[in-house]
Amino acid sequence: MPPTPDTRPPLSPFQEKLRIYLRAGYPLLYIVTAEEDRAIELIRAMLTDGELSKRKPYVWSVSRGLCDADMRAIDRKVADPKRILPFLLEQADPGVFILEDFHFFLDEKSPTAPLLIRQLRDLVAPFKAARKTLILLSSVLKLPLELEKDLTVMDLDMPNEAELAAVLDDTVEQVKDNPKVEVNLDGSGREKVVKALSGLTRSEAENALAKVVVTRSRLDPEDVGLLLAEKEQIIRKSGMLEFYATPERFGSIGGLDLLKGWLRQRGKAFSESARAFGLPNPHGLLLVGVPGCGKSLSAKAVSAEWQMPLLKFDLGKVFGSLVGQSEENMRRALKMAEAVAPCVLWIDEIEKGLSGTRGQTGDSGTSTRVFGTLLTWMEENEKPVFTIATANDIEGLPPELLRKGRFDDIFFIDLPSPQERANILAIHLTKHHRDYREFDLPAHVATTEGFSGAEIEQAVVSALYRAFAEGEEAKLENRHLTGAIGESVPLSRSMGSRIAFLRQEAGEKWRRASSQGEPTQVKDAVLAEPPPVAKKPKRVFEV
Ligand SMILES: Nc1ncnc2c1ncn2[C@@H]1O[C@H](COP(=O)(O)OP(=O)(O)OP(=O)(O)O)[C@@H](O)[C@H]1O
Ligand SMILES: [Mg+2]
Repeated sequence: MPPTPDTRPPLSPFQEKLRIYLRAGYPLLYIVTAEEDRAIELIRAMLTDGELSKRKPYVWSVSRGLCDADMRAIDRKVADPKRILPFLLEQADPGVFILEDFHFFLDEKSPTAPLLIRQLRDLVAPFKAARKTLILLSSVLKLPLELEKDLTVMDLDMPNEAELAAVLDDTVEQVKDNPKVEVNLDGSGREKVVKALSGLTRSEAENALAKVVVTRSRLDPEDVGLLLAEKEQIIRKSGMLEFYATPERFGSIGGLDLLKGWLRQRGKAFSESARAFGLPNPHGLLLVGVPGCGKSLSAKAVSAEWQMPLLKFDLGKVFGSLVGQSEENMRRALKMAEAVAPCVLWIDEIEKGLSGTRGQTGDSGTSTRVFGTLLTWMEENEKPVFTIATANDIEGLPPELLRKGRFDDIFFIDLPSPQERANILAIHLTKHHRDYREFDLPAHVATTEGFSGAEIEQAVVSALYRAFAEGEEAKLENRHLTGAIGESVPLSRSMGSRIAFLRQEAGEKWRRASSQGEPTQVKDAVLAEPPPVAKKPKRVFEV
């Protein structure tokens, strides 16, 4: 008889990893996820496969006691957390025992903690011998120190495309007989909808689809915009990541030729042909430099230039109020970024977000662990997420961050050279609808020595105010610019020693963002790129 074809879906990376742990006889696992039901389903599905099918899944919760694979209660008496572990120890069959929300009882404030921690440690050896595994399933990672060595922590990945396609199919199935709902999904339409759902949990995806059905009375690729808006909302609600729309392109940046060159080269490396050529995905970039010289601006421009959505990551918001929540927040944010990939993940002023890791706050243990999660991810992540971090205060940067392998490169952005100041002036005059050729750029370049890009921009804006004060018909003239420049004191003067220290330290250590050759004769300054025309910010993300 021919073998029946195997119609089971292939194992997800989470299932593959778990399978290895189970086969290797790991006695205690901790799975962190907000999607309990999905985790249980994936574990159950995996246990129908080959060798592992001898192991039966059981689920325990304080409300239902111990249940079998079909969620039939086996024993309600053991709903008492003090009784469940000795009960499991006595079970003879190899099994996988999933405990929901057990972390509450392990909390140091809980009177049950000492007993339960001891009972858990007593399980380790017998479970190893009996091919039994205990899985703690929880939405937060809250681990007593005493168990750290015995427990292995795993994350549940966000749903992959196949799972999201199944969610879509379920929704279609539910509405297909409803005459009020029109379903218009061919192969490519389906693919578009599934792509738009990436980055959401299963229930978030279900809700987003339900909302489309309710508001539009149809399911159609035309509704992808609504789904993306919904996703943007959900990601924003997480509080840590924000889709950041920006009109900035490389043309908005004056100077920084070496940095732009590097970025142009790396931008090409996200393609399939680069993979075929044997190139890895670019990882990320750290921009260090003098305040106001274009670090944040460059981060924004990269996303538009590479046509990838820009996700701004607020490290400060990762630190939640609950112990253990910070790590979960960090994992969740990184998983979301992976799910949105290809994208640019922008961590602005990273040193501020990491200040706790150097013992400046009382909570350095948590901060160090959260930071560790970020560092490990930066090195191991294989998805096309390009991390671009910026920093001013190099003393605040932990050395681990600067190690090779974390970022592809570290660039130092210095005060602009005379040529760069000419370009920056021209860019900002153009942004404000003025023709830069009508101004005496060489004279203004000479008087803006030591100015940052931001200060040059400020000078242009205050010159405009000066002109406007003379009457609505007044023309912006050189004298307005000269007056505005003369009035401002650049940071490099007011905070001279700090800026000088930064320029010397960072300038020696890291790659320079601009070639800074001999001061160019500014009179002949040719703008490397035509300055952009200011336009309304448009939505950047299109998955
Ligand atoms: N090289 C530049 N070309 C054009 N504009 C510039 C340049 N550098 C700075 N600017 C202007 O100054 C503004 C502020 O710059 P940006 O936010 O990039 O500075 P930063 O290096 O991130 O400073 P900080 O360290 O204070 O965060 C930019 O939005 C831009 O308008
Ligand atoms: Mg900045």
